[in-house]
Amino acid sequence: MEQLKAVITGVGAYYPEDLLTNEDLSRMVDTTDDWIMTRIGIKERHILREKGKGSAFLGAGAVNDLLRKTGTKPDEVDLLICCTVTPDMHFPANGNLISDLAGIKHAFSFDLNAGCSGFLYGLITAAQFVEGGRYKKVVLVGAEKMSAITDYTDRATCPIFGDAAAAVLLEPSAEGYGVLDHIARSDGSGWVHLHMKAGGSLKPPTIETVTAKEHFIYQEGQVVFKHAVSKMADISVEIMNRNHLTADDVAWLVPHQANMRIITATGERMGLPASKVMVNIQRYGNTTSATIPLCLYEWERQLKKGDNLILAAFGAGFTWGAIYLKWGYNAGE
Ligand code: UT7
Repeated sequence: MEQLKAVITGVGAYYPEDLLTNEDLSRMVDTTDDWIMTRIGIKERHILREKGKGSAFLGAGAVNDLLRKTGTKPDEVDLLICCTVTPDMHFPANGNLISDLAGIKHAFSFDLNAGCSGFLYGLITAAQFVEGGRYKKVVLVGAEKMSAITDYTDRATCPIFGDAAAAVLLEPSAEGYGVLDHIARSDGSGWVHLHMKAGGSLKPPTIETVTAKEHFIYQEGQVVFKHAVSKMADISVEIMNRNHLTADDVAWLVPHQANMRIITATGERMGLPASKVMVNIQRYGNTTSATIPLCLYEWERQLKKGDNLILAAFGAGFTWGAIYLKWGYNAGE
């Protein structure tokens, strides 16, 4: 009998309607549409402006969409994992809040923080539960309100990030579809280049930390860029080689959407034409844990049962990795 694999059987998403365009940003900081498009590749991002709503609200929207689309009853869900760097609160976990908002009562839930590699790490983690045979329906959601930790006076970071959530349903398959291989790495010494300075136990919040803007994303863009380009491309090529996949065998690269130049470099190293690389960064920006499932959501109708997908990400930690998965359904059937 074939080994159980975790296969994605549905995708849902939710993003706020309000847009923050490059024109809007050029009135807030010293920047231009041309600079942002050339250096990052983003035109607009969605922003959650409603007071009293955080990333759990976005995540619940994505999970509700997923449950509706897949005809799954909340009580059927065994486990929910939320990947986020912007939970509503330090505790309880966003996963607990999202489960409550979505009416999921017979599951356990927790959060996973791996920076921009959150969804990728989450998929590796969720797959273990499914492959073990005990968990039949696992919801994995990436939910981020990046606008809550973005300094809109810092022109080097504020054009990058956006708010969104997207979720997938994972179920067991013995037919050879699903998550077939993964490679993941982390290097905590990279923290100095990308982190939030205060608000944790190392440096609890004070008037001084707020005044010094230490509750926002701190990023040394060039250093992070250099690591991201090489690590994401290397690990994507490594997983292709390890599984004897040529560029022709790969139907899609699903890359984390941090910078168009990183995405292009990864696709080129893998020998893929641009037509096989999912890119929606221009409309959402970097939504951290939500980028990869948001791509799957937008491309769902083009994906065919049996397609070979490579998912790749790099993010704060540093964290990075790649997943080889065989897509398991034709949408609409
Ligand atoms: O997803 C998690 C991981 N994160 C990433 O993967 C992000 C990786 N880093 C990046 O994507 C890029 O480094 C950035 C988009 C953050 C910055 O792009 P860059 O090409 O590395 O720009 P830079 O920091 O080298 O800055 C080049 C110039 C500087 O001016 P000078 O010193 O050459 O006069 C900056 O001050 O561009 C200037 N600059 C801007 N100019 C116009 C920085 N931000 C802006 C801006 N508008 N928004």
